[in-house]
Amino acid sequence: MPRATVGNHSPPLLLRVMLALVSLVAALLSVTTFFRMELLHHLPWTKGPVDNSSDSCSYGHFRLGGMKDCLSWLSCKVIQNEVTVVKLIGRGAVKQVFLAHWQGHKVAFSQLAVSKFSNDFFHGLEMLKGLQSVYVVKLLGYCEEDRTILTEYHPFGSLVNVNSVLEREGHRVFNTWENRFRLAIDYVMFLQFLHNSPLGPRVMCDSNDLRKTLSQYLLTTDLHVIANDLDALPLVNRSAGVLVKCGVRQLQGDFVAPEQLWPFGNDLPFSDDLMPPYDERTDVWKIPDVTDFLLGQVEGSDVVRLHLFQLHQDCKRTVPQQRPSALMVLQSYKAVYTSLTQESELSDSYSSASHDM
Ligand SMILES: Nc1ncnc2c1ncn2[C@@H]1O[C@H](COP(=O)(O)OP(=O)(O)O)[C@@H](O)[C@H]1O
Ligand SMILES: [Mg+2]
Repeated sequence: MPRATVGNHSPPLLLRVMLALVSLVAALLSVTTFFRMELLHHLPWTKGPVDNSSDSCSYGHFRLGGMKDCLSWLSCKVIQNEVTVVKLIGRGAVKQVFLAHWQGHKVAFSQLAVSKFSNDFFHGLEMLKGLQSVYVVKLLGYCEEDRTILTEYHPFGSLVNVNSVLEREGHRVFNTWENRFRLAIDYVMFLQFLHNSPLGPRVMCDSNDLRKTLSQYLLTTDLHVIANDLDALPLVNRSAGVLVKCGVRQLQGDFVAPEQLWPFGNDLPFSDDLMPPYDERTDVWKIPDVTDFLLGQVEGSDVVRLHLFQLHQDCKRTVPQQRPSALMVLQSYKAVYTSLTQESELSDSYSSASHDM
């Protein structure tokens, strides 16, 4: 029986099979890489939380799942007559939020809770109207005289709930570093939108600690992040030299950016008049902490952390102008996501190829 021996120039059968398999895997990977790069910009998460290009309506209109046509934002009269409040689902400093029903749809009915915050409430409403997009909760209607706003209801609630939602029985299959990293990408995508928004560059001010920051965003049932509470988005008008301050009180702690802290020590009591203003790079300072929370503790999340280490160090630079922009963070996040998913595909292909042999 002919056998492969030293001196026989044709490689052994097993080697040839392995070489063929390796070439096959390499060819498959090249093809999938090509399609991945082609598709990258068409994937829902690269565009934004929900690819709703097919269901988008013109300004001042909305459509909910199951609705054929776009409707105008609901008026006071419709809200007063057709919306039934069911139960309280959340509250913050400014609003009380209720689950409600409107024409068979579950909706979120928000009401100003503390009258001294009516300016924040109306600012939030203006921002909701002007920033309607895939990055922001859908506005369904409002009633200025009653100080109420109607938005799309998201049963998973705010981003504070990410861990409890993903750890639920039946959801664990979704509790992966890929899905978690995509949430962080959505979050940075919103910041990038906000810093270059149609209403000018704006800062997400309602974000003095991690929990507060997370509570301003909602987790959708298709596992995306959208911004919900837009009550504190001051405008940075750099050409006019106008920067912002997040409130009139002294801020403390590591979560806020260093330029948001009182710079004159304990000897001089805090005074808003003396407090220097700052810009949207305060949001960039906070990105590593939010992303760290979103990545959680699942297999692979530490590998992502490792790849983001230097970028996150840069976000934490003391001098705001030395931090990357939200757009730069977003681009780096997407690049890391793409290379890590390719790596894990490669190791999956190798392990299934060697398993098949
Ligand atoms: N559309 C919604 N769907 C589900 N939960 C919501 C919705 N809107 C708000 N909530 C819940 O209500 C909480 C408070 O809402 P928010 O708009 O942040 O109020 P505030 O302006 O008082 O901070 C949110 O953190 C979230 O838990
Ligand atoms: Mg809030």
